[in-house]
Amino acid sequence: MPDDPPKPKHDHTSLKFPEGFLWGVGISSFQVEGQNFFADWWNAEIKKTPLKQRSGQAANQYHLYESDFDLAKKLNLNAFRLSLEWSRIEPRPGEFDHHEIEHYRKVLKSLKDRNFKVMLTLWHVTLPQWIAEQGGWENSQTVKYYLRYLERVVPEIKDLVDFWITLNEPDIYVFMVYNAKTWPISRNGVLGQIKTYLNLVSAHKKAYKLLHRLSNSPVGVAQNMQSYEGYHKHSLREQAAAIISDLVANHLFHFLTRGYHDFLGVNYYFHHRYKVDKGFLPSMVNVADHLRDVSDMGWEINPEGLFDVLADLENHLPIYITECGIASTNDDRRTRFLIHYLQEVYRSLHAGVKVKGFFYWSLVDSFEWEYGYNSRFGLIEVDFKTQKRIIRSSAHVYEEIIKRNAIPHDLLKLLGHGIRVEDVLKEKIKE
Ligand code: BGC
Repeated sequence: MPDDPPKPKHDHTSLKFPEGFLWGVGISSFQVEGQNFFADWWNAEIKKTPLKQRSGQAANQYHLYESDFDLAKKLNLNAFRLSLEWSRIEPRPGEFDHHEIEHYRKVLKSLKDRNFKVMLTLWHVTLPQWIAEQGGWENSQTVKYYLRYLERVVPEIKDLVDFWITLNEPDIYVFMVYNAKTWPISRNGVLGQIKTYLNLVSAHKKAYKLLHRLSNSPVGVAQNMQSYEGYHKHSLREQAAAIISDLVANHLFHFLTRGYHDFLGVNYYFHHRYKVDKGFLPSMVNVADHLRDVSDMGWEINPEGLFDVLADLENHLPIYITECGIASTNDDRRTRFLIHYLQEVYRSLHAGVKVKGFFYWSLVDSFEWEYGYNSRFGLIEVDFKTQKRIIRSSAHVYEEIIKRNAIPHDLLKLLGHGIRVEDVLKEKIKE
């Protein structure tokens, strides 16, 4: 009998993504543009001093968008998620600034000129100050104002937009404003909190219908999805806490708006464990105390959690990972993060999940809400004093993946801690 051919010791195949997969980045207007005088956050920053850091110039992308988009193009990206700053477009009730609409047309056009698929968020955290003064999303009138703003702006830009995101992370907004209260735009009151949530549900449903009337592009929400587990598999209380959190944080908004999504947008950042420690009720464990790997913001690195969240979603709709990223000043960690999380996306595709695209958060370092400028999410570093951009090595790793529409085996080496990204990039990466 002939000998069997020797089996390869190691599988060297690259992890191929499906044709047409979208490789993108995300940003939001307030976090990168700078000088958003008419936004509620800007005004709250002034009143609630001393805040650690104020948004100020941010990454000055209002003026630097062309050169930032050039950098994105150089990295081979084929998709771009950004948002409109409502407070610029409608700085006073019912007064629309056509210069600002024209500005956003130019911004979107310059993305289209570079052949990006454009995903546009219509509301991302900040409101015009005049709306905040009338109760913000607590006031049901805000839903009407939101639809009026869409009626005005969407017809002017719809030819330049491939995907609409009506709202960014409604649940996180409600939690941060009414529970965490670390944002300067925080508010008090359970009733207000419930009204805000329900008004956001209604805003999405009505905007969905309106957008379908005005445009042919698909409509969705960017929903923050978190993975949960109980510390002890046998603890019913811990498992119950994980299930309830999953239902409320991940599925309630989808449930209340079911039938109003053409795709599901997933922002993934958090994994939590419940443990019964002292007392009867379980609480979330502090990841750092348990020697878990965390980002500069203390958020656990848990790639498998992304798989779990994706595998748990309604399976007939296309899914886009509308945000996923790490705050780290150590770029080797960002590289490992990117490869690890993309491996999980690859696994989920093989498990039959319809993931159609991945948008790394974020293209450039930006204003990270209450954390200011110390949380560095960017593939591109920003020197906030000079506004100089420096492309990080992790960006080049992303570029190599995008070029091949695959994670080449050579890059998987980077998951070992002892190898420098620059050394791997210097060698010729095999297909
Ligand atoms: C938000 C972004 C934010 C990111 C990192 C997401 O919840 O949509 O605006 O920068 O998380 O905190």
